[in-house]
Amino acid sequence: MTAQTPKTYDDLKDAFQSFISRRDKDRHMNIFWETNPSKFDNGNQSLIELSGGMPHESFFPIESINLNILKEPVSNDTIAALVTKEKPAALPLARTLQYSLSEGFPPLIEFVKRFITKLNNIPLYDTNLWKVVLAGGSCDSLFKIFETCTDENSTVMVEELTFVPVVSNIINTGAKVIPLKLNLNNDDEGIDLNYMESLLSNWETGPYKHLNRPKFLYTIPTGQNPTGLTQSVEKRRKIYKLAQRFNFIILEDDPYGYLKFPKYNHENPLENPYKDDQSITSEEYIKNTLMKSYISMDTDGRVIRFETFSKIFAPGMRLSFVIMNNFFYDKFLKFQEISTRQPSGISQQIVYSTIHSMTSSNYNNDVIESWLQWIMKLACNYTERRNVMLQTLYESESFNKAQFSVVEPSAGMFIIIKVNFNEAKGDIISQMGKLFNLMDSNGVRAILGYKMAFDQEFSKDHLNFFRLTYAYADGNNQIKEAISRINKSLLEYFE
Ligand SMILES: Cc1ncc(COP(=O)(O)O)c(C=O)c1O
Repeated sequence: MTAQTPKTYDDLKDAFQSFISRRDKDRHMNIFWETNPSKFDNGNQSLIELSGGMPHESFFPIESINLNILKEPVSNDTIAALVTKEKPAALPLARTLQYSLSEGFPPLIEFVKRFITKLNNIPLYDTNLWKVVLAGGSCDSLFKIFETCTDENSTVMVEELTFVPVVSNIINTGAKVIPLKLNLNNDDEGIDLNYMESLLSNWETGPYKHLNRPKFLYTIPTGQNPTGLTQSVEKRRKIYKLAQRFNFIILEDDPYGYLKFPKYNHENPLENPYKDDQSITSEEYIKNTLMKSYISMDTDGRVIRFETFSKIFAPGMRLSFVIMNNFFYDKFLKFQEISTRQPSGISQQIVYSTIHSMTSSNYNNDVIESWLQWIMKLACNYTERRNVMLQTLYESESFNKAQFSVVEPSAGMFIIIKVNFNEAKGDIISQMGKLFNLMDSNGVRAILGYKMAFDQEFSKDHLNFFRLTYAYADGNNQIKEAISRINKSLLEYFE
């Protein structure tokens, strides 16, 4: 296929109709209410609605919500904001507690669009040909995309170690999932390009020749789950070129992109350029710290980008958004309309009101700048935690006895440690199990890496790791205590 920049909706339809699932064709919303505006025009009298099964707002049990919003993460200082049935005017409680538009509330979508535009997380083709839709967390967004796009005839490429619930989503649609080799080292992080290119170039003679050529790549490019690795910009450009050459869609799942850190400094382990005395500005953060997204390279409409409020606001909000071309958007929305109908109104309310209240006193009332400052402060906290965990790992006796090695993340929430098992002592999975039990009895748990490999035979060289997170600990002391328990367990295991 020759890559083409779409100019019209028909161009999108021509290019992407073949990426839509069989199930989508049978999906129809039976609309039984009138959608055209009323012709009633009688001075100051208004139309009386007896059509929608919507409860009157006086029946809603919540009259108002007092938000006490943290000024910055981990602080006790708060800003108070009152949300009522009339306030804030752009998105009052009377609206958010009511049924509403499937795509989400326009003021929140407008905010998201301004935010992603400021961060360059938008495509290169005509701005009238892409849209943003809100959904109930990235898991929900991804589920809906696979429902829309994949079926028994589809093949999806996925990093060999991945966020496995997504693999279940894909398989549930009947599609086949094939693993892509990962480089688990800090020199050439993430997808092994040579492997990928050779696989695609030699498809008809390769290990998956019985399957259709892949139509999708699902990737977590920054702070990958579980490896913590981040693809270089050069690698992203090459993968995008492969997508054009072999005509596949890139599903860019990026929950960790904003939690981006400087490289760990072995000479000065606690170095943290986000900290006040070395503080980086939001311009620098956007220009020099954040990674370039796949969507910002997209001239063709072949990238679908998934963002979520889970890691930068709170997972319980179940609020996310997807950026995609209008053709995929229409199909996605059709499914949203007949499934969840709309993302939670109360979540949209709280996210919108919190972000807009953070801004009042600081940063010249610039809502984008204030939200960026919040995110950078989170990234600052995560940088510190990452530094503390790595430092404690490197200082441990077990590390110094070469019982494990570490992969250093520059984004996200995860560090993996690869254990140097002696294969003469048994297969890796049973050794991992024994070590896991020992760690458990010493009071620490981590994720067994092999559980994040969906094809264990393919990933047989990468089964020996634990995924640790520095996100959930109470603070630095608890991180240190956890690592000391891991150290103890490893020493006991290898003694
Ligand atoms: C790669 C990846 N995608 C999606 C999610 C889930 O995001 P959400 O909470 O928005 O559903 C996670 C969460 O752990 C994740 O690691």
